[in-house]
Amino acid sequence: MSTNTIAINQSMDRFNDHDSVWLFGYGSLIFKADFPFIEKRPAHILNWARRFWQGSHDHRGTPEAPGRVATLTPDAGAVCAGMAYLISPQVFAHLDYREKNGYLRLSTDIFFEDGGQQEGLFYIAREDNAAFLGQAPELDIAHQINAAHGPSGRNREYLLNLATALRELGAHDAHVFAIEHHLLAMAPG
Ligand code: BEZ
Repeated sequence: MSTNTIAINQSMDRFNDHDSVWLFGYGSLIFKADFPFIEKRPAHILNWARRFWQGSHDHRGTPEAPGRVATLTPDAGAVCAGMAYLISPQVFAHLDYREKNGYLRLSTDIFFEDGGQQEGLFYIAREDNAAFLGQAPELDIAHQINAAHGPSGRNREYLLNLATALRELGAHDAHVFAIEHHLLAMAPG
């Protein structure tokens, strides 16, 4: 069921000789940075849209009842808000392991909300990974999220924490806020 992406990500070594690298987080990395970082700055990337289309059977769900977590889908003109972290390249070994289930590292231009831009990296779960669930009505996504929990906690908390963190950043995300709206109308599963 899982595609182990550790080896693929380790072959993405173009920043290995840098002292530090910018990592753009758009999902749990916004509200749960459980790794050492040098600096963090609110930021956005272009032409990607955040979607709860990736299945999670190892963090926020189980193989029997997978949860849904965020990935990005290409979307011309879209602006995806998040948090950028300046980290040492060694930190990627930890993140590659944590996100081994389908997430690949890609490079992108990162635009800081206080000005300036830098090339950096982000993780994406593409539709060709085994855990990908894809599009569904936001109400159905909310029902699935409400019922799921795994070793990293309740899937519902993941989404609600993300929605809160996006609001604190002053960011609007219609997809996330629609799922949040449905979830808040449901008793926790
Ligand atoms: C993120 O927040 O950017 C993220 C978190 C987990 C896996 C991939 C990306």
